[in-house]
Amino acid sequence: MPKHSESKRSFLRLTTLLLGACAALLGLWGAIRFALFGGASARPREFPMSVLESLQAGIPMHVPEAGAWLIKGGPADITALDDRCTHLGCRYRWEAEQQLFACPCHGSEFASDGSVLKGPATRPLIALTLNREEQGKIRLLEGKG
Ligand code: FES
Repeated sequence: MPKHSESKRSFLRLTTLLLGACAALLGLWGAIRFALFGGASARPREFPMSVLESLQAGIPMHVPEAGAWLIKGGPADITALDDRCTHLGCRYRWEAEQQLFACPCHGSEFASDGSVLKGPATRPLIALTLNREEQGKIRLLEGKG
């Protein structure tokens, strides 16, 4: 067998190994970050109070600047949920036809109250409390109020 073919094969093997190691490290970092911080971000969770005026009953609204979904109706007047999946922290989206939140990363599904409908996620979406601040702002705090 020609020598350059063997070195080419070694190069490909090494490249594959390095890419696999990089992917594993990225996955490990994501899992560690999520375990330590629970998917919560350090960004301020504020938005103008006027956003609540456009909230319609039963239709979740994403507020990206606050990293949250707001849902009007149900036992609480307004439910706020962290917009990161509790599996590994991907941003999930609202599926209007199915009336559920679906995570594009690994297929977890959640009801509009944040409860798990389908794994791999095992924990409900993180509930946030709405706190009315001065200057016409709403601040979201972790945990139910
Ligand atoms: S991050 Fe959502 S299902 Fe894995």
